Amino acid sequence: MTRICFVCLGNICRSPLAAGVFKHLVQLAGLEAEFHIESAGMGEWHVGELADPRSRRTAQARGIRLTDTAQQFKRSDFERFDVLIAVDEDNADALRRLAPTPRERAKVRLLREFDPEADGDLDVPDPYYGGMPEFERVYEMVERSSRDLLHWLTRPTK
Ligand code: 4NP
Repeated sequence: MTRICFVCLGNICRSPLAAGVFKHLVQLAGLEAEFHIESAGMGEWHVGELADPRSRRTAQARGIRLTDTAQQFKRSDFERFDVLIAVDEDNADALRRLAPTPRERAKVRLLREFDPEADGDLDVPDPYYGGMPEFERVYEMVERSSRDLLHWLTRPTK
């Protein structure tokens, strides 16, 4: 069992989309029993809210329903997860600063490390002040990255 949490700033745009897409890929692969999947935000502003309607619409167009509500990432969450996937460097830095030990800090990875088209840009841009085209771009990055992330997490040498 791999316990994985996707982390962004507000937990309403990028990380719920990433968790929903990753969960969908896990289901398609028949690997539900192998994963526990959540998302969280470093900020507290949107705790308890559903994902942003634009993220939900983008996912829904691919048959993916985002139903979880926003939660803030807490220091105690480091124990609950094996892998923490940050959507950008800012949130990865914030997670590393919060990590109680080097062992917990080493759980932090960037989503776009797994994007075959990242080309050196490892941030998923915050689409909050954008429109649907920004959300579509985020979706494409998230889907490409999630495919390779799933391969990495299920690699035979693990
Ligand atoms: P997210 O986007 O980190 O992808 O969920 C944001 C949503 C809300 C805010 C910032 C980023 N905000 O400042 O309220």
